[in-house]
Amino acid sequence: MIIIQNGQLVSPTGLTSADLSMDGGKIVAIGQHLPVAERDTVYDAAGCYVFPGFIDGHTHLDMDSGVTVTADDFATGSLAAVCGGTTTLVDFATQDKGGTLNQALDAWHAKAEGRCRCNYAFHMAITDWNPATKAEIPSMLERGVSSFKAYMAYDALKVADDQLLDILQTLKPVGGLLGVHCENGVLVNALQAQEKALGHLSPAAHPASRPPEVEAEAINRLCYLGELTGAPVHVVHLSSALGLEEVRAARKRGVKVYAETCPQYLVLDETRYHLPGFESAKYVMSPPLRSAADVQALRQAVANGEIDTIATDHCSYNFHGQKELGLADFTKIPNGGPGIEHRPMVVYTSMVNSGELSVMQFCQLLSQGPAQLFGMYPQKGVLAVGSDADITIWDPKAKTTLRAETQHQNVDYTPYEGLEVTGMPRLVFVGGQLAAKDGQPTDAVAGCYVKR
Ligand code: URP
Ligand code: ZN
Ligand code: ZN
Repeated sequence: MIIIQNGQLVSPTGLTSADLSMDGGKIVAIGQHLPVAERDTVYDAAGCYVFPGFIDGHTHLDMDSGVTVTADDFATGSLAAVCGGTTTLVDFATQDKGGTLNQALDAWHAKAEGRCRCNYAFHMAITDWNPATKAEIPSMLERGVSSFKAYMAYDALKVADDQLLDILQTLKPVGGLLGVHCENGVLVNALQAQEKALGHLSPAAHPASRPPEVEAEAINRLCYLGELTGAPVHVVHLSSALGLEEVRAARKRGVKVYAETCPQYLVLDETRYHLPGFESAKYVMSPPLRSAADVQALRQAVANGEIDTIATDHCSYNFHGQKELGLADFTKIPNGGPGIEHRPMVVYTSMVNSGELSVMQFCQLLSQGPAQLFGMYPQKGVLAVGSDADITIWDPKAKTTLRAETQHQNVDYTPYEGLEVTGMPRLVFVGGQLAAKDGQPTDAVAGCYVKR
């Protein structure tokens, strides 16, 4: 048995000073002064918070875009995850055009099985919606995939509005949740062409080709599709105040719309696209980084409880060799950035230490919220007897500086280079096994597939 003594146990509703014990991968007791036997292993969490392990509901590991493959696979990405305090990730298995959902799910299981240091689940990204794909939805649910994704942008991935309608109508009766990449892809293509015609080929043109209006229009359309079908919709990586206004308006009309944002939209802004040379390619992600006013609006929304989860959209490409594919043309820069390791430290430092967010809200946004939204609660996302022993012991006073040189993410940069953080994971347990200590991995490869 492992016993955690003297910690402050965190839930979205409060803090409790108590001991916690785990055995066989589960939490077996919570209470004052739990008895300790000689064979037990005891950790002192005095001065620390004890969180239900953090869940990252949006990652892209070992993802082949057709041109290049993400720098992190399930081995490196999950190692980085546990070093940062994340105990479960939900990755996007992605259907090939002409392929089936079951093939995609098989492929993603093969990528992850036996290599994952944290637990893992899959959303299914639908890129080829047709009657055969539709017929596969029940088998996805049987196989533990209850959330799906559709793209409204990227020519190789996007689905049309009539297909979105049918997907939502299909998912509604079976309780499936659709997450959507909300950008109007037709407008993106047109705006990219305009930028290029003007001779704007550097990464500085990226945000101009994907302005907030392009996101807000897509969110508006998605929300009306949700309204029309009565199905819940989930806006992933919300980045703009304009998009947020669409979420608010839809909620006022009674639409069930969930919203996720990411650390990069809460702490970085569009000035990163003014960096000299090709440096700003590091920040080419979609949606792009926004204005300081957008950042402020999103932070306010997070603090107000209008955002359901903070996930990373971890999609790492090396600056050298991968981002450089777009040296002569910004539209060829692989989209995405790393964050799976740094999310808890960045959000804690930026928003909890600033007083904008309580430790309880932090728990809701990084742990309980994603567990509830993605069908893992109360197996995960809560410290309760019988729940999985996925636990992050957090030292709110520990300090470090985020650097590519010392990170575990398998990529040659971090968007948070030089950021001084206060608040770090001390001990991270995955299924009752110690997976990381003081930001460094142990030997445990304890991750299990989470059937939802
Ligand atoms: O730029 C991004 N976000 N790349 C990852 C794929 C996606 O759009 O979520
Ligand atoms: Zn996306
Ligand atoms: Zn993504």
